[in-house]
Amino acid sequence: MKLFAYTSAAILLSMSTGSFAASAFAGKAKAAAVCSQCHGIKSPNAEVPFPPLAGRDELYLESALKQYRNKTRRSDVMNNIAAGLSDRDINNIAEYYSRLKP
Ligand code: HEC
Repeated sequence: MKLFAYTSAAILLSMSTGSFAASAFAGKAKAAAVCSQCHGIKSPNAEVPFPPLAGRDELYLESALKQYRNKTRRSDVMNNIAAGLSDRDINNIAEYYSRLKP
């Protein structure tokens, strides 16, 4: 049920931010609402082994998210989350996290 809530949040957000130009601002809104629940904004929750995203290479984040979306990279959690992201969402989020200082 938790997964379902995360997925619908991702889908809702991708509709509501659809009118923004690619921007780290839109990426930040989505990151704060969705991704930070597991990955944190700066560093993941110390009690769970989620990979950190802040300061990671932008192209790496983009390709990882696209692989989760088309399921060439398998993760039950991330496949569900990425299914709700548009190309623009992925660009925005990758831009936002890559610019954060880890
Ligand atoms: C419900 C928890 C959860 C949420 C919410 C979540 N993730 Fe993840 N994420 C994970 C887990 C677990 C993994 C590790 C999966 C694996 O082994 O490939 C992961 C892996 C990743 C990776 C790969 C990192 C690496 O080092 O290769 C990226 C990129 C990523 N997530 C981005 C995001 C983004 C962007 C969002 C928000 C749209 C998000 N995640 C939301 C749990 C979550």
